[in-house]
Amino acid sequence: MLSISGEEFLFWKNKQLSKGGDQQSFAVLLDCIGGISVSDQNLININPEGNLRLKKNLEFLESIWGEHLLKSCPIQYLCGITFWRDLKLKVTNKVLIPRPETELIVDIVFNIFRKKSEKLLFAELGTGSGAISIALAMAYPFSDGIATDIDQDALEIATKNYKNSSNQSNLKFYCGHWWTPLESFKGKFDLAISNPPYIPKSTYENLPKEVKIFEPKIALIGGEDGLKHIGEIIQKAPLYLKEKGWLILENHFDQGEKVKQLLIKNQFKSVEIINDFSGVGRFTIGRYK
Ligand SMILES: C[S@@+](CC[C@H](N)C(=O)[O-])C[C@H]1O[C@@H](n2cnc3c(N)ncnc32)[C@H](O)[C@@H]1O
Repeated sequence: MLSISGEEFLFWKNKQLSKGGDQQSFAVLLDCIGGISVSDQNLININPEGNLRLKKNLEFLESIWGEHLLKSCPIQYLCGITFWRDLKLKVTNKVLIPRPETELIVDIVFNIFRKKSEKLLFAELGTGSGAISIALAMAYPFSDGIATDIDQDALEIATKNYKNSSNQSNLKFYCGHWWTPLESFKGKFDLAISNPPYIPKSTYENLPKEVKIFEPKIALIGGEDGLKHIGEIIQKAPLYLKEKGWLILENHFDQGEKVKQLLIKNQFKSVEIINDFSGVGRFTIGRYK
């Protein structure tokens, strides 16, 4: 551990931020690699007379920040870590960095299933880093969850994240195309959640390069109109959900109404579009019959 005065640290931090990048990414770097928690970062802003203890020296942190700015590589991939809700998750370029807006999916589930003692059987299709499933498995300790993904590398990361976050054993990981690995659970799920790839192909081409170059394409593109995977998930959902089971989907900012119509067409009831924090109809939910 290296000790540094608050004043020296703040001077150095401002110098780094003046080169570019955003505060949030810098905070991730300081926390994950520097070993300075976000609360300690805030504290030193208020009281610069204090001292800080660093896990790595400033030159090393500066070199990672420089690489982030030069290559536009997301800081989470360079640090190998991201924070999502109250989880600290390992991420590599095999998994999408779970987004802050997706955190709301967990709150939507909390709003539907209010008792944490519920014994639910839930599925998450396309788990990536495992963020959503891990949060749910930990919040509902008497429930069982199955998280699937087409990518075995992603599932290995999700499994590690689950082991690092929880000492329970109520979440399993299966590999395969959407519902396919869940054949033996037909008609049994109380709840299924998915944040599938939903970006239309033409929109993908114009995404910022930090997303396009570094994040897995398979996690992002949803065919020509973005609805290819959402449509398939909805169409097969009635085979796998219990009667009155819920399907909760994340979609692109302008897809809510179309996803709503797809759910209605497939006999879902209580269909609703739910806004994210920026007022975008980001989630569409429904209950099977
Ligand atoms: C948008 S990412 C979501 C990851 C994670 N659930 C989250 O919210 O951060 C979509 C995920 O779906 C997976 N996926 C893509 N095509 C799939 C398919 N045909 N079957 C199952 N999973 C698929 C990707 O590998 C990726 O992990």
